[in-house]
Amino acid sequence: MDLPAPLVAVMMGSKSDWDVMRRAAQTLADFGVPHECRVLSAHRTPVETADYVAAAESRGVEVIIAAAGGAAHLAGVCAAHTVLPVLGVPMESAALKGLDSLLSTVQMPAGIPVGTLAIGPAGATNAALLAIAILGVKRPELREKLRQFRAEQREKILRDSVLTV
Ligand code: RP5
Repeated sequence: MDLPAPLVAVMMGSKSDWDVMRRAAQTLADFGVPHECRVLSAHRTPVETADYVAAAESRGVEVIIAAAGGAAHLAGVCAAHTVLPVLGVPMESAALKGLDSLLSTVQMPAGIPVGTLAIGPAGATNAALLAIAILGVKRPELREKLRQFRAEQREKILRDSVLTV
């Protein structure tokens, strides 16, 4: 059976990023969004990274999520090769706890934007939710699922909102 064509490409610079980035994939799966996940590095596979991103639009991909850690160029390199929206997720790094990843992802010079999320797991989940919101502009069923997701979060907070000692 053929898989549906991916609407979101989830890229990461190393397989070591997968433990965190699987949250993005899981969130997309929970919302029924076709996606694919690829390890491709700005530094270690520059040609394959450029080729993959350059072909994404013609394959039907509408949003790219790119996660990397350290001197995290992946999202910026992706954005250089496509006009599709690129969402960057800075991975937590051993040396600087992801501040290096955050700054090297977020500080794009004017002209080639990268929408940057939070460091680590929150960023992975929110990148998927933001991708879904982007796709939802033209897909009312996804907007409805996002409303439902927010309603569930609201109910969860209100269920446990009164605290006593
Ligand atoms: C980056 O270097 C990757 O995105 C990863 O976060 C970091 C470390 O990679 P490994 O040394 O674990 O492969 O390119």
